[in-house]
Amino acid sequence: MTIGRTAAITAVGAYVPDQVLSNTDLEQMVDTSDDWIRSRTGISERRMLKDKPTSFMAIQAAKSLIERSSIDPKTIDLVLVSTSTPDMIIAATAAHVATEIGATAAFGYDLQAACSGFLYGMSTAAAYVSSGRYQRVLLIGADKMSSIIDYKDRTTCIIFGDGAGAALFEPNDEGIGLMDEHFRSDGIGRDHLYIEAGGSMLPASSETVSNGQHFLRQDGKTVFKFAVSNMSEATTKLMERNDLASEDIDFFVPHQANQRIIDATAQRAGIKPEKVLSNISSYGNTTAATLPLILSDFEDRFQKGDNIMFAAFGGGFTWGAAWLKWAYNT
Ligand code: UT7
Repeated sequence: MTIGRTAAITAVGAYVPDQVLSNTDLEQMVDTSDDWIRSRTGISERRMLKDKPTSFMAIQAAKSLIERSSIDPKTIDLVLVSTSTPDMIIAATAAHVATEIGATAAFGYDLQAACSGFLYGMSTAAAYVSSGRYQRVLLIGADKMSSIIDYKDRTTCIIFGDGAGAALFEPNDEGIGLMDEHFRSDGIGRDHLYIEAGGSMLPASSETVSNGQHFLRQDGKTVFKFAVSNMSEATTKLMERNDLASEDIDFFVPHQANQRIIDATAQRAGIKPEKVLSNISSYGNTTAATLPLILSDFEDRFQKGDNIMFAAFGGGFTWGAAWLKWAYNT
């Protein structure tokens, strides 16, 4: 990637619902224990959104960004919403979000790459900005995972939570912002992490509903192995290609799927534990929202020029790593 005009993150925002679903709550719903969940995943609790759609959280995250940065929403050119749980299959969630936040001069559309949605969206947002095509792109990662989870399936219901985060991409001429990326996908993943029905392959019917085929299913062990090997490999490749040693990385921002996946990925990529950022204990896996929720929670620790390495892995399979130089001091 050539450095000329780059695209930098200039503001972040986030929203999680107030309602908490704790491990103790889950003990009443399925055959599990607080101890098992903490030791196998690092998760203590997650947030649940009741009676409202994904766009509600996306709008709150965007509004918190607008408030923190004092930008005029009318100056936003494009709103991208990365999500696997859009409000509706047709009618882009991003179009509704743009209208609701007052981004009346913007166009909006959705991106779907499961847990890699925000990571891939960073590339899309940055490409629009660094090419000079648009000035202000608002990228939101938002998922209401509780709308697709079977709360009788202990292998999935303990992991996922609801949330949203947002980042604003703007042009930068100081050589900071999104510097490089290494992205991949492999279609074998659709046998291991999927929602079978509700798409064109198996449209909704009373049978698909009674069979529970609209819920997320996964082969956790296989996903775990692919996640660790692919995220660590993508991170290592990106570091090597850019002559980045592990001491050059100020922060590692991995997708929050399982604390054991996070730790193993960082270890394989040679990144020291103190540089690894995690909030999975509080939110679980919020799919497209994990990366921007980390940015918002740890924003005050970032300094202008810091090297931040992102990595994500999700359904498809989709995965990759991205290197970003932070653009501002809080
Ligand atoms: O973002 C991408 C999306 N998903 C992921 O990244 C998830 C990746 N996978 C994982 O995080 C882990 O594989 C899980 C957390 C899903 C499962 O952890 P694990 O250490 O891989 O457990 P396992 O599947 O090997 O199961 C071990 C045992 C089994 O019992 P047996 O067969 O040994 O008697 C499971 O039935 O644990 C049992 N088990 C549970 N026990 C208590 C599975 N889920 C639970 C549970 N509570 N919630």
